[in-house]
Amino acid sequence: MDDYAEITYKGKTYKLPVVEGSEGEKAIDISTLRQKTGLITLDPGFANTGSCISSITYLDGEKGILRYRGIPVEDLARHSTFTETAYLLINGVLPTREELNRFSVLLNDNSLVHEDMQIFYQNFPRASHPMGILSSMVNALRSFYPELQTVEEEINKTVTRLLSKMRTLAAMSYKISMGHKVIYPRYDLPYCANFLNMMFDSPVKPYHIHKELVKALNVFWILHADHEQNCSTSAVRVVGSGRVNLYAAISAGIAALWGPLHGGANQAVIEMLSDIEKSGGNLNNAIKRAKDKNDPFRLMGFGHRIYKTYDPRAKIMKKMCDKILKKLKIKDPLLDLAKELEDIALNDDYFKECNLYPNIDFYSGIMLRAMGIPTNMFTVMFAIGRLPGWISQWKESADDPAWKLSRPRQLYMGPTKTEFIPIDKR
Ligand code: SDX
Repeated sequence: MDDYAEITYKGKTYKLPVVEGSEGEKAIDISTLRQKTGLITLDPGFANTGSCISSITYLDGEKGILRYRGIPVEDLARHSTFTETAYLLINGVLPTREELNRFSVLLNDNSLVHEDMQIFYQNFPRASHPMGILSSMVNALRSFYPELQTVEEEINKTVTRLLSKMRTLAAMSYKISMGHKVIYPRYDLPYCANFLNMMFDSPVKPYHIHKELVKALNVFWILHADHEQNCSTSAVRVVGSGRVNLYAAISAGIAALWGPLHGGANQAVIEMLSDIEKSGGNLNNAIKRAKDKNDPFRLMGFGHRIYKTYDPRAKIMKKMCDKILKKLKIKDPLLDLAKELEDIALNDDYFKECNLYPNIDFYSGIMLRAMGIPTNMFTVMFAIGRLPGWISQWKESADDPAWKLSRPRQLYMGPTKTEFIPIDKR
């Protein structure tokens, strides 16, 4: 055993191997702990526990580093497209031009959804949240495409089908929620432009596809594409470990992302900023409430389990907001409020001591508003961006010959053996 940690318990010392990652991170391999010591570990929220070894995404929360397959996210945002980044995450390498063209053709070939799926939308109550609809519709895809996902070829087909159809389903849910005619995907449009067209084109007012918005949407989805073992990715891995089909595993990821502490934060940030604006723009009151331990109010879009510095994605998102709003000549008072709030928070001792900085969700909603995306679809936008990440993480676990069913243990603190008392004696 090259490197190891020692644990001494009740006078006995045990050696546990220490494994080192390619970036020098170290982990104690506790897979033999219970067998050796009879002990398990306890780590609510898994803040100190690694669930897997992965080669997909590297984060350094102290230095604010994010890389997909080794490539800095800043470089991908500047030079790549969302479909190219999706290919990189899923296949592990950047595609050649020919591979990317073939991938784009496959995405377009799979962009339609079965007509029968439109009927499902009719039966959701009008006020249904698009994330609940999306999670159900993605699960329903399995009923239309029941192919086994055991052979490489079928898996690849399922992957491109999901990447393309989830985007179509999202745009469809928006159109149907507005009572408008569904706009079909167009074979001549690339992935992001196709989505904007499906969202905003209409028989009475043809949609002009702004190249700046297409670029902004590519960047938005690249920034969201993966983020190692976050809550929703862990949900995909855990659900997938039971060998359920990929649609069901992704549907679980969508449900996990919906929460306001996770992907739902982008919607919660805009609601928070709108409330502050409506109540007279009193930012200091928001800061005061955020610091009050007795107040459940949180500064949405601030703080992160891993980043203890500025989220590198938030930096890029903030710049994109300025650029887009200027290009489209939009004045969004919420952007000014967000910048002011950030300024106050970053100079506040409490936020500095708790290492609370803006995360990806703080500015993303401002950008989505500028694109015309309705607030209740913000987390759907996050989900479409995160889909290649979820798929790559699911594939990595499925390709692992030692793929194990995820089943954590617990420490039982309930009643010891108790006698059953018949009801007439209670
Ligand atoms: C995403 O994991 C990922 O990678 C996620 C994500 C991805 O790409 O997948 O990056 C996307 O989910 C980003 C996070 C979006 N969520 C929000 O913006 C919601 C607001 N943020 C918080 O709820 C919180 O910061 C979390 C949930 C994000 C992280 O919380 P942790 O790591 O569990 O830390 P914590 O809640 O224990 O907070 C530590 C301290 C606490 O003080 P104490 O109770 O210990 O005294 O910091 C305080 C908290 O009170 N704190 C905040 C705060 N976040 C933490 N105080 C005020 N406002 C906040 N936003």
